[in-house]
Amino acid sequence: METPPTAARMRGLMEPYARHVLVCTGGYCSPGHGGRELYAHLARLLQRERLLFGPKRVKRGETPCLGVCIGGPIVVVYPEGIWYAGVTPELLERIVVEHLRDGRVVEDAVFHRLNG
Ligand code: FES
Repeated sequence: METPPTAARMRGLMEPYARHVLVCTGGYCSPGHGGRELYAHLARLLQRERLLFGPKRVKRGETPCLGVCIGGPIVVVYPEGIWYAGVTPELLERIVVEHLRDGRVVEDAVFHRLNG
């Protein structure tokens, strides 16, 4: 059996990410699973804004629940630890352009901050 690579060996294999975005695709915070559509839309927006490579590179991820379970879809951006609620496709576009591309948090849609 092959030995799994060590963390030390893994370092340097991956181009660094500037941010990680988690989209809740669960059905409690957004009945109808609106998060799933957002998650797919996020991929298109990241590509359009050229955020899949380079210094502002964004990793996108989906999660079945973030423990909020109301007022979704919920989207979280790290490393800032910014939590957005009620994310529509239009709001997602603002998050991508204003926050991920330009570095300005979309304050009017923030409902929670990590350690804040
Ligand atoms: S189902 Fe989305 S936060 Fe729980």
